[in-house]
Parts: sequence; C-alpha cells; structure tokens
Amino acid sequence: MRKFLSVLSLFVVTAIGSTMGMAQSVVAKDLRSFFTPLPALPPIPADNSLTPEKVKLGKMLYYDPRLSRSKLISCNTCHNLSIGGDDNQKTSIGHGWQAGPRNAPTTLNSGFLRVQFWDGRAPNLEKQAEGPLQAHVEMDSTPELIIKRLKEIPEYVELFKKAFPGEKDPVTFENVTKAIAAFERTLNTPNSPFNRYLLGDDNALTLEQKEGMKLFVKYGCIACHNGPVLSDGRFHKFKWNNDLGRYKVTKNPADKYNFRTPQLLNVAVTAPYFHDGSVNSLEKAIKIMAEKELGKKLSDDEAKKIKAFLESMTGEVPLEARVLPVLPEKK
Ligand code: HEC
Ligand code: HEC
Repeated sequence: MRKFLSVLSLFVVTAIGSTMGMAQSVVAKDLRSFFTPLPALPPIPADNSLTPEKVKLGKMLYYDPRLSRSKLISCNTCHNLSIGGDDNQKTSIGHGWQAGPRNAPTTLNSGFLRVQFWDGRAPNLEKQAEGPLQAHVEMDSTPELIIKRLKEIPEYVELFKKAFPGEKDPVTFENVTKAIAAFERTLNTPNSPFNRYLLGDDNALTLEQKEGMKLFVKYGCIACHNGPVLSDGRFHKFKWNNDLGRYKVTKNPADKYNFRTPQLLNVAVTAPYFHDGSVNSLEKAIKIMAEKELGKKLSDDEAKKIKAFLESMTGEVPLEARVLPVLPEKK
C-alpha cells in the first residue's frame, strides 16, 4: 500500500506539474485517467445470479418491516431510497427506539464495495444482510421468526419458488439475504454529472467542479478514494473517538482506529459524516480529511471547490427501486 501511495503521489505531482499552464481542457482530460466510470452493475457472485424474479423478491423484503421483531423497521427505515439510501441521522434509531453506535452508510452502489460496514466485518452483501436483521439495536429479529412470518404469507412462498427455482424448500434465511443482496446490486446511480463527465461529456461539470477535481487529485484524496465508487475498500487510520474500528474485528493492535474508506458517490445527500455521524457539513468533513489523512490545511475556497466536485457525484436512484411495493398479506 505504501509503495502504491508513493508511486501514485509521484505520478500526481508529475501529471499536475507537466500540465500546468496548458489549456484547461488538456488538464481535465488527463485528470479523467485517475478515475473509473461506474458500470451499470457491480460484479455478480457466481452463487447468487441476478434474475428479475430475485430482484423483485429482494425489493419486497428490503421494504418489509415484518422482518423486524416489532414489525416497524425495514431496511428502508435506515437506508431510505428516497433520501440517498441512508437515514440522515447521526447514528441510526433501531428496535425499541435505541440509537446504535454508528452512522448508516448508503446502500446505493454498495455492491461495488470490496467489503461491507465501516470496519469491513462482512465480505459481501449477502453476509452483510445477516447483521441488521438480527442486531438487537437494529431489527432485533431471528432467522426462525423471519421464516415463520414469511411462510404464513402464501404469496411470498410463491415468490421464493420463482426466485429460487428447483429448490424444495426455498423460504430460507440464506435465500432472504441472497434476494436482498440481489436487489441491492441494482441500486446503482451511473447517471451522475461526474460519471457523464468521465464518459466524455465535457460540459457535465462546472468549472468550479473541475477545479475541485484537480485539487482532489493533487492533494491525494484519490490515494484512498479511488475506483468506481471512490473507495479503495481498504483500511486507514482515523483516530476520532473511542471507536476502535477494524481492531474490533481482527484484534490486531495494528488495526486500532482503522476504518474502511467509505464511497463518495452521493455523499452530498448522505450527511451527517464519518462513522459516528458527528460532522454535519460536507465542507468541514473535507477539511478534516485533508488535515488528518494528508496533513494539509485547506483554505475555505479549496474546500468549497472540492465540495462542488463531490456534489457532481450525486446520481439518480433507479425509479423502479424507489416505488413502494405492495406487500402481500397473511392468509
Ligand atoms: C436501525 C437502522 C438500520 C437498519 C434497520 C438496517 N441498517 Fe444497514 N446499516 C446501518 C448502520 C448503522 C450501518 C453501519 C454499521 C457499521 O458499519 O458498524 C449499516 C450498514 C449497512 C451496509 C454497509 C454499507 C457500507 O458502506 O459498508 C449495508 C449494505 C446495509 N447496511 C444494508 C442493510 C440492509 C439490507 C438492511 C435490511 C436487512 C439494513 N441495512 C438494515 C443501519 C441500519
Ligand atoms: C489515507 C486514506 C484517505 C485519504 C487520503 C482521504 N480519505 Fe476521506 N476517508 C477515509 C476514511 C478511512 C474515511 C472514513 C472515516 C471514518 O471512520 O469516519 C474517510 C471519510 C471521508 C468522508 C466522509 C464520508 C462519509 O460518508 O461519512 C469524506 C467526505 C471524505 N473522506 C473525503 C475526502 C477528501 C476530500 C479527501 C482529500 C482532501 C480525503 N477524503 C482523503 C480515507 C481517506
């Protein structure tokens, strides 16, 4: 990683240095090569194919509060697809009105993340979904309770049969998580101005946003925030409060205060920021990043430009995912 960083920063310095003074369009053209456009779909795992039947079922489960013990809380409660795929709370409110310890990241484009959660404790979306369904401070359910409730609803049993053809008893906890993960892999926002710019539309970004992009590369934000969702999926030190981050998963002292780089797509609509949601202003979050991760103090003007750049990463949530499903009734 360190080697990659130094190679990269050398590259950044020469790239910026050599293009300095040239026409703005040339600089912008070169900067494009630091970024990766967002594909329409993330990688699909071999053991969980993406079929329309599974996505339809996964969407219903994502929105169904009856998966929670109280029958009040769904994935969409904290990952609301009408407001950026998160809940805009400092930390989430779950079962019994309890506040959890961490801020809810967005589910949008989450299929592109190398690992899930702030501390990367789940390797994929299927494993991730097992967490909130059972977490006491989230949905407080159990696999048995969920399966019992779903089997009482004949239409769900039919939908599971269609989504998992050939399985004798398809209403299983594993298939619940598979269907939800399949749906989540469709929650992508490739039509942002930023992505349109990367795909060749020079006018998709304002001049201010282009300047912000230049600073983002020049100062080295790109060293960690890179790839299709601007996350390297790796862990970096962010000593901020008592949360030990990755250490809680690995118990390796070197992992203390390490957190997985979050994605930056749609970041302008997912305040508040950081794993504890303690910062409301995006500009302030950018300044804190520059100072703590790069040892740089940004001027207000620089932070404003980078913020404008990050705003260009707000995309459109697919309409199909946002329209509330009609959920079937118990017979
Ligand atoms: C009570 C609020 C709440 C509910 C309900 C909830 N989540 Fe979350 N979700 C969170 C919080 C908080 C985190 C971050 C926790 C952490 O990293 O320790 C999170 C993390 C995630 C992530 C990881 C994203 C990333 O950037 O790493 C995904 C994906 C996700 N949730 C999907 C779901 C799904 C699917 C459901 C329904 C089965 C669900 N969540 C239910 C609050 C919630
Ligand atoms: C060394 C790696 C690294 C560098 C360099 C870096 N970041 Fe980050 N960034 C992270 C990590 C890790 C987090 C998560 C911090 C936490 O635990 O809350 C983060 C969080 C953020 C967040 C908050 C996202 C959210 O959803 O809460 C923003 C915004 C951000 N970074 C922007 C930037 C900008 C702009 C720069 C350059 C000035 C930058 N970062 C440089 C690793 C990095």
